[in-house]
Amino acid sequence: MNSRLEEITKKIVGNIHEVIVEYQINDTELMQALNFLTEVGERGEYQLLSDVLGISVLVDEITHGQEETAKTAHNVEGPLYRPNAPKMGSKAKICSDGDKGDRLILTGQVLSAENNLPLAHALVDIWQADEKGDYENQDENQADYNLRGLIETDEEGRFTIETVIPGPYEIAKAGPIGGFLEAIGRHDWRPGHIHFKVSHESCSPLTTMLFVPNDPWIDSDAIGAVRDSLIMKFEKIDAPEELTKYNVDEPFFLCKYDFILNTIENEKIEAKDEALQIK
Ligand code: BEZ
Ligand code: FE
Repeated sequence: MNSRLEEITKKIVGNIHEVIVEYQINDTELMQALNFLTEVGERGEYQLLSDVLGISVLVDEITHGQEETAKTAHNVEGPLYRPNAPKMGSKAKICSDGDKGDRLILTGQVLSAENNLPLAHALVDIWQADEKGDYENQDENQADYNLRGLIETDEEGRFTIETVIPGPYEIAKAGPIGGFLEAIGRHDWRPGHIHFKVSHESCSPLTTMLFVPNDPWIDSDAIGAVRDSLIMKFEKIDAPEELTKYNVDEPFFLCKYDFILNTIENEKIEAKDEALQIK
């Protein structure tokens, strides 16, 4: 027998019974709820339901530990990652010339939390939406793998990525989750963000995302994933000598951000501590 499952089931069922009694739920409302869940299944939206209820982010925090250590905060992957992005060197351009919107140069180092030393040849797998909030696989006007790339850091763990600032987007427009959010007076917008999977053989891999500052939805992300430490800081660069230095021909925003990877040992200890707290 699985006593953990038994205990959790009792707790969940007890809480549901309490709500049913408190709100005197009737059989019509029960049928509505069951039909909603059936439709969520039929439309493949259970992951999205977990996302908008804040469950995905909470479980991600418990799994990866968010206590105040040096390492970069982990975050959920979301459904739009594609493996096998084009391999690029430490200085990479992931946007195409046709991409509209403000240019962004993201530069920094990948470091180890153990000693703060740079990680040479770390991999930075990046994916993001364009200015309109569309990922390339949702938009026939974008080239295959546009705004995606697998960047390898140089000998000093450095990377410099040229891209555009991603726009916010809605996550649940047409399906049952969209209708549910509307019914409870919530929107389905995510603030502009850039996803990353950062890895190095000596450390635990990091999945996270960085957010666009001053985005209209930064304080009300539909999945509740925003963390202060993951909000980018932008500096507007327009001095001609700076444009030359970065090899670009128009003003851009600069964001300096270092990714700090946890050691494999620390990650295991933190995950064990979190698991003990749940029991
Ligand atoms: C995303 O960031 O790509 C995402 C996350 C959760 C639900 C939908 C999209
Ligand atoms: Fe996303």
